[in-house]
Amino acid sequence: MAAPASEVSAFEVGACKGQKVVDGEAIPLVLRPSSGPGKSSAEALVAALAANRAWFEEQLVRHSAVLLRGFDVADAVEFNDIVEAFGWEDIRYVGPAPRTHIHKRVWTANEGPLSEFIYYHHEMVLIKEFPGKVILFCEVPPPEGGETPFVPSFKVTEKMIEEFPEHVKEMEEKGLRAKALGMDMEWLADGGVKTILGPRPLTRVFPGRKERRMWFNTVVGMHGKDISSAELADGSEIPAHVVRRCGEIIEEESIQFKWEKGDVLFLDNLATLHGRRPSLPPRKVLVATCK
Ligand SMILES: [Fe+2]
Repeated sequence: MAAPASEVSAFEVGACKGQKVVDGEAIPLVLRPSSGPGKSSAEALVAALAANRAWFEEQLVRHSAVLLRGFDVADAVEFNDIVEAFGWEDIRYVGPAPRTHIHKRVWTANEGPLSEFIYYHHEMVLIKEFPGKVILFCEVPPPEGGETPFVPSFKVTEKMIEEFPEHVKEMEEKGLRAKALGMDMEWLADGGVKTILGPRPLTRVFPGRKERRMWFNTVVGMHGKDISSAELADGSEIPAHVVRRCGEIIEEESIQFKWEKGDVLFLDNLATLHGRRPSLPPRKVLVATCK
């Protein structure tokens, strides 16, 4: 086991509004610069991350999310340096969201209208090779709204089992498929779509994450509430009240924090769902995705 967060001298453990304690761990873990001249510069941050890669990755898996706050990260170039400090392999975004390439590994986050709620999802959940990490950087914090809430995915599974044991069992046993097509699909790197015949699992367990069952599916659709984008693999519908309540559970379990300029948020994409609340302009949040 790597040292706890308090033992790496480049960082001080902080707190943020909206932070929760889940299973004894703060989520997100907030890391701030330790006091001393130059400690908050982007260069110092990149050096500290590069020197503590394994430790940082372990913190990310343990806490599911890490927020770097209080560092002077100014733009896409500095954000890219942070992303590249780890040596994690890049994974190119494929899917429906409109995005613009900014610099090297950095893209705009979803450019869909700011007035829309982008519903909670695991990034690229319908794609065979999804990212392990989603890294977000706030260049311009929104004046109002525009939060990027995220949810410990296993908590959703836990609550769903508690409230709908029979439905969860049925969905788990039969598997799911995309509703609109009557079959499942996968986005390809060239922008095409491949159809899949086999059913998709409701939940997934990933190595190193306490055997937690992640709610890795699209039962609650991208538009949320009672519009599910999944159905059972045998063609039967997921009851509307189950989908609706699932949407509420996701909201109840979510972690809400306010973006501050220069924030860098690391999400374990295997363990968290994330979304975007409607926002007043301007809002500039950039993203990089890694294996
Ligand atoms: Fe996303």
